[in-house]
Amino acid sequence: MGSNGTFLDNEEAPTYAPSIPVPNVQELVRKDPFQVPQRYVRKVEDRPKDTDTSYLSSFIPVIDLSLLLMGNNEELNKLDLACQEWGFFQVVNHGVAKQVSQKMKDAAAEFFKLSLEEKKKYAMPSDDIQGYGHAYVVSEDQILDWSDALILLVHPSHYRKLKFWPNSPKGIQEIIKEYSNAIRKVATELFQSFSLIMGMDKEALLGLHKQLVQAYRVNYYPPCSKPDQVLGVSPHSDTSTITILMQEDDVCGLQIKNNNEWVPVNPIPDALVVNVGDVFEIWSNGKYKSVEQRAVANYSKARISYASFLFPHDEVEIEPPSHMVDSKTTAAL
Ligand code: OGA
Repeated sequence: MGSNGTFLDNEEAPTYAPSIPVPNVQELVRKDPFQVPQRYVRKVEDRPKDTDTSYLSSFIPVIDLSLLLMGNNEELNKLDLACQEWGFFQVVNHGVAKQVSQKMKDAAAEFFKLSLEEKKKYAMPSDDIQGYGHAYVVSEDQILDWSDALILLVHPSHYRKLKFWPNSPKGIQEIIKEYSNAIRKVATELFQSFSLIMGMDKEALLGLHKQLVQAYRVNYYPPCSKPDQVLGVSPHSDTSTITILMQEDDVCGLQIKNNNEWVPVNPIPDALVVNVGDVFEIWSNGKYKSVEQRAVANYSKARISYASFLFPHDEVEIEPPSHMVDSKTTAAL
């Protein structure tokens, strides 16, 4: 930290545990669309079930950000309940221009269409999580996800490692920055509403971050000839404060755990999906839930999803603000 209490501009991006190199899934499918190697096949109990829980998706709360910004109490209550009961919600009227998200989708689709050789120019080294490849593979026995990803740190700007930022298609770097700035604004506005419903000053939650770190992960899920045997992304909770996900409007994949059931988050056109991460669960003293999520694969269509993770600076110690630890909670300990 600098002597004035801010973080230095020249510090390095954090480093990560090594990840084992694994095959590129898009290439595997391109070579033979019917092969599903054993390393991707899940145990029977971990596989997606055929029971149709699709109707449950309509119970996932939908929050109107424009109402939150007006201080609408009913919407603030809805947000509070959404984070307690689901840990997930979809946001509409979020202010991200359609043209900005469409440019992002078009550029990402073009990027994934490049040859493997071209994409490998941005390959993720085994001791980093930035670049194109696969993070978090820690054992040769680990069952692998049916996806590839491009992961970048976008904020603060001195964390950016431009060697991992694609040069093709033309303009993609600017598009990523523009999209990420728009998402950062949504996150900041959500933090203002969260601060209010947590009984704090409007800027308090943002302040707890010291510096708002933003990571970006674009997932590519190729089609799979046996979607009932694999998972696009293994069950996990996010370590972030919140995550903001843009999905395609016409391909489903994301599922979240609710009442012990996997519930699909069916896309609402132009909406963003927001979830509570581990940091926020702690800051809310467990009031808000960082729930498990996973992605399933699709038989005929590839799916691309765009996840923006918002974190506090690494050096921030994560503990609930004292007013969140109320007498009821303490008495129960
Ligand atoms: C992730 C994730 C879900 C999705 O990127 O961590 O959970 O729908 N993605 O792609």
